[in-house]
Amino acid sequence: MKKFYITTPLYYVNDVPHIGHAYTTIAADVVARWRRLNGQPVFFLTGTDEHGSKISDAAAKAGETPQAFVNRVAGEFKKLWVTLNISNDDFIQTTQERHKKVVQAVFEKLKASDDIYKGTYEGWYCVPDETYFSESEIVAGNCPVCGRPLQKLREESYFFRLSKYEQPLLAHYAAHPEFLSPTLRANEIMNFVKSGLKDLSATRTRVSWGIQVPSDPSHVVYVWVDALLNYITAAGYGASAPGMRFDEVWPADIHLVGKEIFRFHTVIWPAMLMALGLPLPRRVFAHGWWTVDGAKMSKSVGNVVDPAKMCAEYGVDAFRYFLLREVPFGADGDFSEKSLLGRYNSELANNLGNLLQRTCTLLVKNFDGSLPPASQSRMLGDASRLLARIEKAYDGLAFGEVLEEIIGLMVKTNQYIDEMAPWKLGPDDKDKLAVILGECAGVLRALAVLLWPFMPTKTEEMWRRLGEAGSVEKDGSLWLNSLKAGRIPDVASEQKVQKGDPLFMRKSGKSQ
Ligand code: MSP
Repeated sequence: MKKFYITTPLYYVNDVPHIGHAYTTIAADVVARWRRLNGQPVFFLTGTDEHGSKISDAAAKAGETPQAFVNRVAGEFKKLWVTLNISNDDFIQTTQERHKKVVQAVFEKLKASDDIYKGTYEGWYCVPDETYFSESEIVAGNCPVCGRPLQKLREESYFFRLSKYEQPLLAHYAAHPEFLSPTLRANEIMNFVKSGLKDLSATRTRVSWGIQVPSDPSHVVYVWVDALLNYITAAGYGASAPGMRFDEVWPADIHLVGKEIFRFHTVIWPAMLMALGLPLPRRVFAHGWWTVDGAKMSKSVGNVVDPAKMCAEYGVDAFRYFLLREVPFGADGDFSEKSLLGRYNSELANNLGNLLQRTCTLLVKNFDGSLPPASQSRMLGDASRLLARIEKAYDGLAFGEVLEEIIGLMVKTNQYIDEMAPWKLGPDDKDKLAVILGECAGVLRALAVLLWPFMPTKTEEMWRRLGEAGSVEKDGSLWLNSLKAGRIPDVASEQKVQKGDPLFMRKSGKSQ
């Protein structure tokens, strides 16, 4: 069975990891976990983009060799992914030997097929962005991306025949509407391609920190051409990953990217793949950008959000949950700690936490922690329909909608408890109590499974508290399958329900 292949962009190592990087990676992780929960084999890739003069400049500034510098910062990304519970299967660094080999082989292959040729490039160059811009793109002599002054440069360069792929790209977009996702971003790309593609300068002579062209070592490969190829290196292209069969992984199912790098992934990348005769990724999905308290995040303003700090304050699960709950995926959004705190208290502590607490406390009090069967649940009666809606939302990467569905179930179940008021029932009402509490315990276990991709730690805690001996990670698939069929699985374990501490301790507000 082909693996479900999902990727994040490779993060530049000239910056420490921040909320923007965390966002793309957490979103990819949620999809990867959901697919695994559904029994699908997954290959989930992330990594770091380590070549180019921006990186070697940053290394020089830090007083380190480029390689030592990139390894150190890549280590910080890896550490953050552990903190954030990211379940990636591989972490690629573009300075690794396996990747260099692929880039060099691809370059020579495309040169041999005349998809790459030698010429001279003259244009407006942005040094910090390492990008050339055409006359029509520049804004009053400045870079259209960062606004800094541009320099007119001329250099010998190898070119990739991007222009040749104008029509094939348009034909591909038309035949595969999903390729450009979400659809609101599709027009911009199609218009860009329709307006005419120029060949792409694919090497640099003024940059030394990069992968050399084997047949002409004064040239290094342009950092974007280098970086994009990571997606096939890690998949085992040209035997770059022993033990992995390329066609078991490739093509990628989703490249998850931020909106500012959508064009690289939907124009240059598919054209390169066409030139190589490889199938194209099924979908490139662009998400929006975060501002912080209404302002653009920047080091100089000092408002860069450190994901590790947020996890220390609110816990990793609440942070993961919040990022995907707060803003529809694909749109821009604003991060505010006040809003995080609000959702933490209302949705996680009051809603989910309370439901678990009330149910477990009453089960311990009335049944000594044994779980009554919950085979005919009213709350979960339409579980298969709920799951169909959740699946559809996942297909559109509409994480907010997935969570809306789950929260709806939480609210409904809390209302049910309020109406039934089981705490008023006495020892003579044991049968009634068993039905109510069995119902709630069933929903809670379903909630643990459904929320697991978002909150892999707290849901395991829920699972244990509910008397399950295994883990959601191991047993969740079984559960999901039963729910899809409209059944609640029997309780497998003899373990007892535990009262425990609140799942999410309520937090008092910040002063602002
Ligand atoms: N190295 C390239 C990608 C090469 S992929 C072959 C790159 N790296 S990056 O580190 O600058 O950015 C990577 C990701 O972080 C992008 O998906 C980008 O959208 C995301 N974010 C960076 N800042 C962000 C926000 N403020 N908000 C949301 N995401 C943003 O580009």
